[in-house]
Amino acid sequence: MAKLRTVKGMNDVLPGEIERWHRLEQAFRDRAERYGFAEVRTPLVEHTELFERGIGEATDIVDKEMYTFTDKAGEGKSGKRLTLRPEGTASCVRAYLQHNVQGQEPVTKWYYLGPMYRRERPAKGRYRQFYQAGCEVYGDPGPYVDAELIDMLVGLLGELGVRDVEVLINSLGGATTRTRYREALLAYLRPRAAELSEDSQRRLERNPLRVLDSKAPQDQEIAAGAPRVLDFLSDEDAAHFDGLRATLDALGTPYTVEPRLVRGLDYYTRTLFEVRGRGGELGAQNALCGGGRYDDMIAQLGGKPTPAIGFALGIERLLLAMGPADAEAGLDAFLAAQRPEDRPAVLVLARTLREAGLRVETDLRGNSLKSQLRRADKSGARFAVVLGEAEQTQGTAKVTDLRQQNAERREIPQAELVEALRA
Ligand code: HAM
Repeated sequence: MAKLRTVKGMNDVLPGEIERWHRLEQAFRDRAERYGFAEVRTPLVEHTELFERGIGEATDIVDKEMYTFTDKAGEGKSGKRLTLRPEGTASCVRAYLQHNVQGQEPVTKWYYLGPMYRRERPAKGRYRQFYQAGCEVYGDPGPYVDAELIDMLVGLLGELGVRDVEVLINSLGGATTRTRYREALLAYLRPRAAELSEDSQRRLERNPLRVLDSKAPQDQEIAAGAPRVLDFLSDEDAAHFDGLRATLDALGTPYTVEPRLVRGLDYYTRTLFEVRGRGGELGAQNALCGGGRYDDMIAQLGGKPTPAIGFALGIERLLLAMGPADAEAGLDAFLAAQRPEDRPAVLVLARTLREAGLRVETDLRGNSLKSQLRRADKSGARFAVVLGEAEQTQGTAKVTDLRQQNAERREIPQAELVEALRA
């Protein structure tokens, strides 16, 4: 029989590796909460229409990467089209509108963590199930909050030891700018249409911006000579972009203006940014995180016009950029029973220590003391604690510091054990 394996592009994360995930997730949560964000959890599955309308039908994601299926229909009904979420922004906006959060507070700051699904060609740093950590802000037109978000992101990366990064920023402008830029871009691309990739030809009239972030070499060559959006910014859009840059300067956050940055989603307006990593084990998939403003999406999905901005970082990519793991804090103590009949007493003591917050492991299979102590050594625990008949009568335990060579065995009253093991 063929061996059962994970679906292509989807991975297990086992103990030994998960500790680095925890560290990253905890650092992200802590930082987001220090900046006033609160967590939101939305379903992994949404109505397909949300992504078609929210992300845009002429994007790679909606056009070819979504896991979409038809749900079983009830009697006499046709099944609903559902999709595994390819990203978090559209779902958050749906939740924001559905629960009328807008009516409750003028500015809302949400963060989320979880798996996303895109049917991309798997490679190192590119998977079909991958995890994102993201932040979204509703109700603040910027540009100060735009700079604050970017700065918060750079701070997080620094805290995780990822300092060799490049922050790219650009502005796509608002509706007026985009209409003017679209015309200029089409005027440039139309005469070259025959040389474009098939995808780009197909999407040219609907969405010429997509040509600019196409991965096809012939498209990239043509894109290199295309007009630049920054030359088309309206006065208000230019002032917004200047404000972003001045605020980043005031914060001391280094950045590079990249006028060719467009990113693969259709909802962006004005501020756009991406953080690329240069170090660690990152290969070609060097975009650690991306984000931008999407001031039109809330109105497009049926809400009152509300400015919005956010970003998402790819957890697997950030882990690659972080490089090999530091030594993780392991077990505090390994408890061993002198004789098999001492196991209930070991369990009672283990429970007391665990209730006090210590990380404790035991071996309850009834093996010899020697074999238990071998496991204690291998477990990486700081202390070995042995309990036998004599210790039980005296209310003590024998404690050895496993990190010291030839450490002596100390007899410690059980009442003092928590303190001693914490030391
Ligand atoms: P995105 O650029 O599509 O933006 O994805 C954000 C990050 O998710 C990427 O920079 C990358 O690190 C990671 N990522 C994307 N696809 C994959 C993949 N197939 N495998 C591994 N990692 C991946 C968004 O998703 C937007 N929702 C960001 C945003 C939030 N914009 C505004 N608010």
